[in-house]
Parts: sequence; structure tokens; C-alpha cells
Amino acid sequence: MTSTNGLSTFLIQTHSHTPNGLRRLPTLSPPCRHRGGDGLQKAKFFATYTSSYSTEDQHIRSEERAWTHWRKLKQPKLIVAPMYEGSELPFRMLCRKYGAEAAYTPMLHSRCFAESKKYRSKEFSTCKEDRPLFVQFCGNDPDILLEVAYRVESYCDYVDINLGCPQRIARSGNYGAFLMDDLPLVKSLVKKLATNLTVPVSCKIRLFPLLQDTINYVKMLEDSGCSLIAVHGRTRNERTQQRANWDAIKTVKNSVKIPVLANGNIRHMDDVENCLEVTGADGVMSAEALLDNPALFAGFRSGDWVVDGDDGFENGGVDRGSLVVEYLKLCEKYPVKWGIIVSHVYGMLGKWFEVHPDVRDDFNKEKELSFEYIYSMVDRLRGRGVQFPLYVKKSRL
Ligand SMILES: Cc1cc2nc3c(=O)[nH]c(=O)nc-3n(C[C@H](O)[C@H](O)[C@H](O)COP(=O)(O)O)c2cc1C
Repeated sequence: MTSTNGLSTFLIQTHSHTPNGLRRLPTLSPPCRHRGGDGLQKAKFFATYTSSYSTEDQHIRSEERAWTHWRKLKQPKLIVAPMYEGSELPFRMLCRKYGAEAAYTPMLHSRCFAESKKYRSKEFSTCKEDRPLFVQFCGNDPDILLEVAYRVESYCDYVDINLGCPQRIARSGNYGAFLMDDLPLVKSLVKKLATNLTVPVSCKIRLFPLLQDTINYVKMLEDSGCSLIAVHGRTRNERTQQRANWDAIKTVKNSVKIPVLANGNIRHMDDVENCLEVTGADGVMSAEALLDNPALFAGFRSGDWVVDGDDGFENGGVDRGSLVVEYLKLCEKYPVKWGIIVSHVYGMLGKWFEVHPDVRDDFNKEKELSFEYIYSMVDRLRGRGVQFPLYVKKSRL
């Protein structure tokens, strides 16, 4: 470790390739040029114009900047949602190959990220092609959040604050959706990042039970300098079995002037179209359905969403086995924990395993997992002759 401005620099695992194909790993993070207090000279996304304009002017200009940035990213509509142990680099790259236009990292814990080099290099990796990218943090301390945001800002297009995690661990850690009980704190987090970072700040939120509370909430986020809001259309107590409330997302879209993303119940491209139409949102995010079918945004749909006898669909020529193989190749290039690989294999091959539980049991029992083992497991499943194709709509030509 070396030290700059009294702060240790650290290694972030980024993946780039030399012309001869060898991986250069890892590279240095940007120098900690920001450290030393908010008084330092910085190129800021939000604050550069705040001093000499009226509040109304400031809002107009911050909206403009939010939209200029969004347009610069080519207004992505199809987005991989943040998934802890799910939206890691190889999976993001697989989804991007199949139509995803932007992606979120899994949630990163800001205090762990600030304190532990091991955590940083294990939990965050990216590469040149992994853009546009939202890097998501949870946390409740504005200074820590800013410190970690500085460390990633040159690798991403938004630093995102997780305001939606409803789990017990978020309650005990006082982050995610539990910050909805302390809006002044939320405001201070957003303001701190928005007035200091060079990249814009986004927030991923859940709904309040009362619509008016949600409206006040998103207006507050916008006023604090948030440049994009992603809305998971459920309250903190609702689970995914409950249908997401797209009407409430529409109300959010109509209440703010910055880009809004809709999240919840996006399982295939018809859902994408319907959701954009109902909500008027600028894009959609999908999570669970992508774990099952990472090719969703390229128009492929799982057999779950093709009604028996519907002749409007045909085999799209991509099956779950080939998606797993493509994913594993990406994992060979961009290494991740085996636990993550195993859960993606379950996500994509779950339906095959149901029909061939003996193959699943052998996979469960395997003590020394390797890429070769999983490649040959896919061959073994294929050899059984059962196919679980992904479907596409028949061309109407
Ligand atoms: C495996 C898994 C992990 C998730 N991890 C995160 C996370 O790290 N951060 C976050 O904001 N949301 C997380 N979520 C929530 C999703 O981003 C999304 O809001 C939710 O699943 C609803 O979208 P869906 O209906 O498309 O699944 C996770 C969801 C799943 C299924």
C-alpha cells in the first residue's frame, strides 16, 4: 500500500486486456485527490452552479444536467437491477451481450468498502466495456459514503444510494429502506454526494404506503441533488409475490423532472413495453427474471411466459445450457466467488435440474467444483435429450 494525502491508496479489481490477451490485474484506483475536506478544488456535478443562482434557477439547471448526462449515456431503457451476489461483472456482461443497455453493481456496504481492501477487491470489479454502470452503496454516514464514492466515481456513470433494501440486516444496520424513517439523514447523504462528486447521484427507492408521502419523498430527493430515481414499485413490507404498483411509479414520474426508472414485474419484453407505457418511465430494471433468463432484454422469453398452444412464438435458438456456457467463459475471464457462480448455474438450469434431480444431486455433492465439471454437466443434461429453449416472437413478415 502507498499513501497519498495521508490516505492509503488501494487496489480495485478492474479487468482490462493487453493486446496479447493477458489480463492486467489489478490496476490502481485513481489517486485520492479529493481527500482533505470539502474545501478542495473539485469538478463537481451538482454544486458548481449552486452559489450564485436563485433556488428556482438551481433546480432548472440541475434538471438540465441530469438530462444532459442521461442523453450522453444514450438514454438506456433496459437495465440490470442491483442484485447482491447476482449482478456481478460476468453476469452484467452476459446481460449486456443480450440487450441490457446499463447495469447496477450489487449493493456494496460503504463502511466495509472504506475499511477493507480485501472487501473492495472481492466485491467490486469492472472492465472497460462494463458501462453505463451504476455503483450501488448502502450506508448512513455521509462522510463514509462520500469517501467510498470518490473511490469508484471514475469507473461508473452514477453512484447509487440503496434506499430500498427491506431485509432484517438492513434494519439492524440502519440502511436501505429503513432510512425512510429518517428523511433528514437521507437528504444529507444525497446532498453530500451531489455537491462533491463529479458523477451524478442516483437513488433506488421503495414506495411509502401513502402516495403523498412518496411524492414528498421523491421531490426531496430531487431537491437534494439526486439526478435519477429508480422506483421499486412496492412498499418496504411488500414482497415480490405482491404485484408491483406501476401506477404509483407513474405518479413518481409525474412528480419529478429528472429521469425515473421503473422496477418490479418485468419478466419479458411485453412487460417492458407495458410498463413504459403505463408509467411513462425513462427505463425499466429487471432482477429475478434475468437470473432465470439473462437473454430477456434481447427478446428471448422463458417457456413460463409462453402459453401452451400459443403459436405466436418459436424456439429462439438459444437455450439455457448455452447461456450457462457463455456465463462460465465470462467467469474465466473475470473471476468471481464460486458461490456466485453456483447460484447463477441454479438460476439458469433450475428447470433442467427439476427434471433430472440426479444431475443436480451430483452437482450438490461435488467437492471440487471446476469450470470443466460444469461444462460437462451441461453436456450430460443435453445428452438426456430434454430441451428448455428460450422463445422469441415469430416474425410477422
Ligand atoms: C438475488 C437478489 C438480490 C438483490 N440484491 C439487491 C441489491 O443488492 N440492491 C438493491 O437495491 N436491490 C436488490 N434486489 C432487489 C432488486 O434490485 C429488485 O428491486 C427487486 O427484485 C424487484 O425487481 P424484480 O421484480 O425484477 O425482481 C435484489 C433482488 C434479488 C432477486
